[in-house]
Amino acid sequence: MTKPSIDMSAPLGATVTLPNPVSTASGCAGNGRELHPFVPLSALGTITTKTVMPYARSGRATPRMAETPSGMLNSIGLQGSGIDHFVAHELPWLAEQGARVLVSVAGERTEEFAEAAARLKGQPGVVGIEANISCPNVADRGLVFACDPAASYEPIAPYARRPIPRTPSTRSSPRTSPRSSTSPPRAPRRARTGSR
Ligand SMILES: Cc1cc2nc3c(=O)[nH]c(=O)nc-3n(C[C@H](O)[C@H](O)[C@H](O)COP(=O)(O)O)c2cc1C
Repeated sequence: MTKPSIDMSAPLGATVTLPNPVSTASGCAGNGRELHPFVPLSALGTITTKTVMPYARSGRATPRMAETPSGMLNSIGLQGSGIDHFVAHELPWLAEQGARVLVSVAGERTEEFAEAAARLKGQPGVVGIEANISCPNVADRGLVFACDPAASYEPIAPYARRPIPRTPSTRSSPRTSPRSSTSPPRAPRRARTGSR
């Protein structure tokens, strides 16, 4: 691949500099194996993985996809093999490719985001963590995290006040308007003061 003649480097948080700001959208390139035959993963700024949860999950029953006149609708239900399988089988392969990996994590409860993120500590190739807050919060009647400012903040709260080598980011939900969306989420007052 030809080396770009302009500096495309992009900072990611305080400690990481990417060679360029291009990343895949979570899940659109699976965990990289599908994209790998077409483009070297090391040429991307980052690859954002398919969302991974702390445990294996079978996802929704079929049908999961529908064609519409203006595009495709899908509702997969976060099918996946869980974080242990991801760390053992997907990450080592991604690191071998020289990929900078932004790992999308999710959970049905706030603590599960932290659980998945904790398993990524010190893993090779991981440059950041994306909290997929576009999923239902079981502890709040299944309301999507991103639809509530406090619930949006909670998955990243453990990282919000201290500099960490892994950069947290969030991915919101199409069900939130740009005004109500919290990407990146701001700490609601009560969460910031810890009075919840
Ligand atoms: C096949 C497929 C799998 C996806 N998997 C995930 C996923 O695991 N986690 C996630 O946060 N978003 C996932 N998405 C949503 C994409 O990251 C993206 O937000 C969505 O495609 C909308 O972007 P677009 O309007 O540019 O297509 C997936 C999308 C597709 C088409």
